[in-house]
Amino acid sequence: MEAVIFAGIQATGKTSFYRERFFDTHLRINLDMLRTRHREEILVRACIEAKQPFVIDNTNPSTEERARYIQPARCGGFRVIGYYFRSSVKEALARNAQRTGKARIPEKGIFGTHKRLRLPDFEEGFDDLYYVQVDESGRFIVEGWLNEF
Ligand SMILES: Nc1ncnc2c1ncn2[C@@H]1O[C@H](COP(=O)(O)OP(=O)(O)OP(=O)(O)O)[C@@H](O)[C@H]1O
Ligand SMILES: [Mg+2]
Repeated sequence: MEAVIFAGIQATGKTSFYRERFFDTHLRINLDMLRTRHREEILVRACIEAKQPFVIDNTNPSTEERARYIQPARCGGFRVIGYYFRSSVKEALARNAQRTGKARIPEKGIFGTHKRLRLPDFEEGFDDLYYVQVDESGRFIVEGWLNEF
């Protein structure tokens, strides 16, 4: 049983990574889609109760936002895995600019999330932590956390 928590500013590849790695196995929980924390809470609780692996596909920039999932998941016997999507603001803005329609979000949203961003830490209760980056050819590169000792 695995609870996966993404963290990273907008347009860094989180949803694309979900599609590539987790679509067949993990339920996707995304606040943009669900719209309210109330709905989100019901679904997280349902996953934990059902022992259904899930991914929290939100920007989750702060420790507090991540704690909302880590504590209940651990209590429910889940392993908690964090993926931090490493990207400069400049690169995120460029990827956002390539999006069309509603997918393109206001730039100030990216700046705002970046300002609130605190890197995840094992002390928050993660069992594993990884960096994710997109290389020049568009492949996701996943690396273990550096301060893992
Ligand atoms: N492997 C990749 N190679 C090149 N471009 C990619 C790759 N994955 C995603 N992108 C592009 O980067 C943009 C952002 O990807 P995605 O929507 O997955 O980001 P996100 O982190 O989920 O963003 P948000 O937080 O706004 O939901 C998309 O427009 C997509 O086309
Ligand atoms: Mg997304």
